[in-house]
Amino acid sequence: MYTHQILVVGGGLAGCRAAVAAADLGANVAILSRVHPVRSHSGAAQGGINGALGTADPKDSPEAHTYFTIKGSDFLADQDAVQTMCQEAPSRIIEMEHWGAPFSRMEDGRIAQRPFGGAGFPRTCFSADKTGHVLMHTLFEQCLKRQVQVYEERHILSLVVDQDPKNPAARRARGVIALHMTEGKLESYRADAVIMATGGAGRIYRKTTNAHVNTGIGMALAYWKGAPLEDMEFVQFHPTGLFGTNILISEGARAEGGYLKNKDGERFMKRYAEKFMELAPRDIVARAIATEINEGRGYPGGYVHLDLTHVGRERIEERLPGIRDLSINFAGVDPVEAPIPIQPSHHYTMGGIACDINGTTPLPGLYACGETACVSVHGANRLGGNSLLETVVFGARAGAAAAQYAKANPTEANGKIFDAETQAAEKKIRGLGQGEATEDYAAIKTEMGNTMDDQVQVFRNEKDLRRALDKIRELKGRFPGVRLRRKGLRYNLDLIHILELEAMLDLAEVITLGALARTESRGSHSRTDHPTRDDTHWLKHTLATHTPQGPKLDYKPVTITQWKPEARVY
Ligand code: FUM
Repeated sequence: MYTHQILVVGGGLAGCRAAVAAADLGANVAILSRVHPVRSHSGAAQGGINGALGTADPKDSPEAHTYFTIKGSDFLADQDAVQTMCQEAPSRIIEMEHWGAPFSRMEDGRIAQRPFGGAGFPRTCFSADKTGHVLMHTLFEQCLKRQVQVYEERHILSLVVDQDPKNPAARRARGVIALHMTEGKLESYRADAVIMATGGAGRIYRKTTNAHVNTGIGMALAYWKGAPLEDMEFVQFHPTGLFGTNILISEGARAEGGYLKNKDGERFMKRYAEKFMELAPRDIVARAIATEINEGRGYPGGYVHLDLTHVGRERIEERLPGIRDLSINFAGVDPVEAPIPIQPSHHYTMGGIACDINGTTPLPGLYACGETACVSVHGANRLGGNSLLETVVFGARAGAAAAQYAKANPTEANGKIFDAETQAAEKKIRGLGQGEATEDYAAIKTEMGNTMDDQVQVFRNEKDLRRALDKIRELKGRFPGVRLRRKGLRYNLDLIHILELEAMLDLAEVITLGALARTESRGSHSRTDHPTRDDTHWLKHTLATHTPQGPKLDYKPVTITQWKPEARVY
């Protein structure tokens, strides 16, 4: 049994920032992570982090950042939360600079800023096209400096929830049971507060920019223990995934001047976003590309071109070296000389564990931050560069709030509940090792991914969504037939993939059910059978609660402060 005041599950940017904040308040804090923190998916973020520093354009302001984020969200974001994020952005970015993050610079030495989609101003601070990587290393150093204990290569099996001794009617998150992957043993982690920061759920889709560890496990574990999931139907498709592999080709490429062209060589964005062109918000650009492909103006196989050839070798080498390497190595195309083949690819989970601006969830003792959480600052469509920002702003807030909660509620955890959870996990694993398999987990995962790619995609309609929901439920029905091929617990990826698949199937069901119910088009959720936004009926957040019969959907109002919903013209 390991005991800490604060247990952060997930070692990406949000988790590390939460750990730093909790440690700075004197809490004993540990991070438990599936991979070493600097191998987290945060490190794959390329293009940048938003904050109204006003270096590239002094007219920019936190108010402009707030307005364009709300408009980008198609007015579904909670406006008080967006205000908090945008007001705190400049100081969080300067803090990262002071901690040593090597941002790209302007001639005069100030932090450079590039224009990202739907932003209205050049507001995205960057480190060439490796921004997540440099921020990740910088924050991990801060964790090391504070001697934050890191338990890496741990797969979380369950969230332990007990009654609160101070208020026996209330439940309280008390820790987790995890599998030590390399040693093959189950471990209990006890804490006064748990912060879930396990990232997004991209691997539910096959065509995704996400790493293999992005299975949404933290979302599912919280959901299974009664924490509601919010706005899961809002799934972001990045306009420019590399054709064939879906590796991210950063929006930074368009920020540096890249053009999108169809097979006729036409810069087609003029027909979809006359003013913002390639730098319209992602939902609009992704739909434009999908439309070009669907209407036969793409290349055979289904892609269009991202053309950087006019940008010049020098700028590409300075600002987009990673994109150049990826294109050469994975598509055989040097963007200095030829356009990059791209297609929209699943990229980001706008929804997540419902929480407030301090990461507080409806389950006492459980906090959430980063892509795992739904604060909600992205609403129906996130602007590029706001995810890295979210990790540092709301990571810090969740860490501080959890530390304060732990200090105020330092009660002994009930050891019996850990024994019971461990026994339940052992029983489940034993069950997976008994009897003959009637199903292959890889086949179920592939069918789930294909279903999501084909029917819960950029464009949606009732018929597709119903078929998808039926299919996912069929796959859930088949899942109990899956068995382990290898029974030892030491580095048993077979076991981990099976456990993750169970989580992903439930999340796929929540996404699809929410999308089917929402009979309007808003942001990334584009229903061809309900093509307009319907503020009268749907200006509200979806909440999905787990029941043995499946997800139960409820709704709650969007917080509107001063920005009345308006038409989104770009
Ligand atoms: O395009 C990108 O560099 C991705 C950025 C983001 O998702 O915020």
